[in-house]
Amino acid sequence: MGRVWGLIALLMCFYRANAAAGPNIIAEPFEVFNQTSAVLRCNLTETTLPVQGSHWLLNGKVIESSKSTEPSPFTSLSLDKITTHSGGKYECVFLIDPPVQQAVEVKTPPHVGAYKHSENGDENDKVLLTCVSHGYPLPSDWSWSKTQADGSLAPIVNNTAEKYEIKSTPNKTTLAITDLSIELDKGEYVCIGVSDLGASSDRIQLRVRSRLAAVWPFLGIVVEVIILVTIIFIYEKRRKPDEIQDDDDSGSAPLKSNSDTNHKEKNVRQRNSN
Ligand SMILES: *[C@@H]1O[C@H](CO)[C@@H](O)[C@H](O)[C@H]1NC(C)=O
Ligand SMILES: *[C@@H]1O[C@H](CO)[C@@H](O)[C@H](O)[C@H]1NC(C)=O
Ligand SMILES: *[C@@H]1O[C@H](CO)[C@@H](O)[C@H](O)[C@H]1NC(C)=O
Ligand SMILES: *[C@@H]1O[C@H](CO)[C@@H](O)[C@H](O)[C@H]1NC(C)=O
Repeated sequence: MGRVWGLIALLMCFYRANAAAGPNIIAEPFEVFNQTSAVLRCNLTETTLPVQGSHWLLNGKVIESSKSTEPSPFTSLSLDKITTHSGGKYECVFLIDPPVQQAVEVKTPPHVGAYKHSENGDENDKVLLTCVSHGYPLPSDWSWSKTQADGSLAPIVNNTAEKYEIKSTPNKTTLAITDLSIELDKGEYVCIGVSDLGASSDRIQLRVRSRLAAVWPFLGIVVEVIILVTIIFIYEKRRKPDEIQDDDDSGSAPLKSNSDTNHKEKNVRQRNSN
């Protein structure tokens, strides 16, 4: 008895699901990947509502050239050359009341690029290497490696001895290296982004300057100042004895000293009278 009721309940469910099914869109293909070109097609079925037109969206934005006012339950979009930039979430939209839409994903292998291909760091200081990614889908996995002397890649592990810190989001990864050493840390670093559709990588050359090089311009100024002060000092020291001699020898000197003493006497007198 219970089984019969169960069966009836199940049939009711099917009936309701069928009754609730309104307009339906059949997309062909449902997904595109690893292709250099494609034609996306949508077919509006299971509705008698009038169609006022259709268009396509890419990542939520209307593709202007795809706008149509034809009352057709069928629309297609031709992708002649699929690159990293043309990948994304496409959607066909039919203008009925209310509008209906269906997604078609166009997937491409990721494209990874270094923010800067050459970075400089100072000895004992910290440096941040950055790579970004484009494409759809974005990498699900990121990793960093360092090129060894023999050309092989040595993977870098996050938090190794608090030296490396890797931070990744789908569209960006950063590698922070602390306490830079000239011998150990200079060289080529490789960032690698991996998605279901493939991998992509880029390279960054890191140069580490010695601490002395970093303070060199400052040291240059200090040395310049020291030399200048020394020259002035020596000049002054040599000049002073000459001037004293001059005062003793020249005829005008006594006059000058006389007038000086006169002034002083005057001052003293004035002070006395006060
Ligand atoms: C993509 O296509 C190439 C050849 O065109 C093939 O070798 C490769 O396996 C394909 N990759 C996937 C994920 O289907
Ligand atoms: C649209 O779908 C219907 C129902 O599956 C089918 O009969 C019809 O041939 C399709 N039209 C096109 C243009 O694919
Ligand atoms: C690396 O470690 C830091 C600190 O523990 C953490 O915040 C970060 O998410 C880790 N990165 C990865 C890629 O696991
Ligand atoms: C990267 O993703 C974040 C959110 O996940 C977004 O806010 C940001 O704009 C994206 N950056 C680029 C360059 O796409």
